[in-house]
Amino acid sequence: MRPADLWRHSSFRLALGVTLAVLGALILAGAVGYTVLHRQLADRQDARLREIFTTFQQSDAADQQDLIEAIAARIKASPNQSSVYLLRDAAGKVLVANINDVSVPAGWSTVEAATLGVPTDYPYRIFAGELHGDYLVIGLSNADLDDLAEIILTGFGWAAVAVLVAAIAAGGWIASRLQRRLNAVTETLARVASGDLSTRLAVSKRGDDLDVISGEINQTLSRLGALVEAMRQVSADIAHELRTPLNRLRIHIEGAALNAASGASVDDDLAAAIQQSEAIDQTFSALLRIAQIEAGARREKFAPVDVAALMASVGEVYADVAEDAGHTLRADITDAAWVMGDRELLTQAVANLIENAIRHCPPGTQITCAVRASRTEVTASVTDTGPGIPEAERDLVLRRLYRLEKSRTTMGTGLGLSLVKAVADLHGAEICLVDAAPGLRVELKFPRIIGVS
Ligand SMILES: Nc1ncnc2c1ncn2[C@@H]1O[C@H](COP(=O)(O)OP(=O)(O)O)[C@@H](O)[C@H]1O
Ligand SMILES: [Mg+2]
Repeated sequence: MRPADLWRHSSFRLALGVTLAVLGALILAGAVGYTVLHRQLADRQDARLREIFTTFQQSDAADQQDLIEAIAARIKASPNQSSVYLLRDAAGKVLVANINDVSVPAGWSTVEAATLGVPTDYPYRIFAGELHGDYLVIGLSNADLDDLAEIILTGFGWAAVAVLVAAIAAGGWIASRLQRRLNAVTETLARVASGDLSTRLAVSKRGDDLDVISGEINQTLSRLGALVEAMRQVSADIAHELRTPLNRLRIHIEGAALNAASGASVDDDLAAAIQQSEAIDQTFSALLRIAQIEAGARREKFAPVDVAALMASVGEVYADVAEDAGHTLRADITDAAWVMGDRELLTQAVANLIENAIRHCPPGTQITCAVRASRTEVTASVTDTGPGIPEAERDLVLRRLYRLEKSRTTMGTGLGLSLVKAVADLHGAEICLVDAAPGLRVELKFPRIIGVS
């Protein structure tokens, strides 16, 4: 990875952020350390000055000569003038000193070395006052105190440089490691973008955040793959199944053309062609309606619906149709059973089931509409005593346009059960096709809503 690229990586920026925070903390620690140390040292220096002054104070008051000698001894012991002394008598005459004859106020003060006539850059801490009739000035160099700032700055400065170098190195290392893994993710996603939905991201055993994200992406890819496969299947089915009606339409039109050429009537051919195109139109409308239901927008219009009352009224509507077809239709409905749903779609679904029983069963079939409610579930079912659907085809008939071989000539689009399934899915209901021995029972199991009875 080029150093210029480093900045683009969040891991590196994070490492740098942490480094800056550490640096800030170091500077703060340095400042606090300096202040505390400086105050401590200054206090000690003052204590030493006061101690020296007190020592002179406690010496014999009468013997000025002894005092001068004691000071001279101290001056001798400090050849580099780290401590300075000046003793002046009442007349203003300097008795002993290793500094200029400066006038310093009594008490504490800080005086520049140049004023004292000492060849150094550091100022002096001074204490002055009356002593047995004379005036004594004593001072200590601030060299240690002033050097402290430099010592601390140098120490913390080197530590800061070390931390910075270590953080940049660690940040770079982490960023390049992470980059390798991210590159793998990017490459996989590029393969997905180019249409390969079967590819998956590598998930390590570490289980870190990148693994979690990779796992999520893999699951999404699986779902996406299944969806795309289902879509592909549906479009292939639709394309395949629509060829037959389109071929029929073409045959009618060709028939009309032939008849027209020979001067015969084309009325029958055109009527048949119109009927065929209407059937195709119906198929497309039904396909669109199923797609709309699957899109789920109608869920917003959901309201409590009493499935028992709904089933009873649809049964009533179809009673005469069933009777005309030679069937008997009866309702086996007891108490109200409420679910959250779309009344119009539920009516359509139940109607489709009753129509199927009427259409696909021979005369003399018994059709029963039933609604049962348990504590958590409402089961609506339509049962007939007809030929039923072979077990192997019970899932297939839920697919768009799928019809049993023997029903090819019966009226219908092969979309009735697909719509029932779409409505069931929209309502969170389970659809089951079971053998009613003999016959077929289609059950819709809805989650029951509590609070409405
Ligand atoms: N009650 C039933 N008894 C027997 N077969 C049925 C029944 N209901 C549906 N089928 C079979 O399932 C197929 C699909 O049903 P459906 O999707 O409603 O399409 P359509 O009724 O338009 O043919 C039907 O063509 C028929 O073969
Ligand atoms: Mg049908």
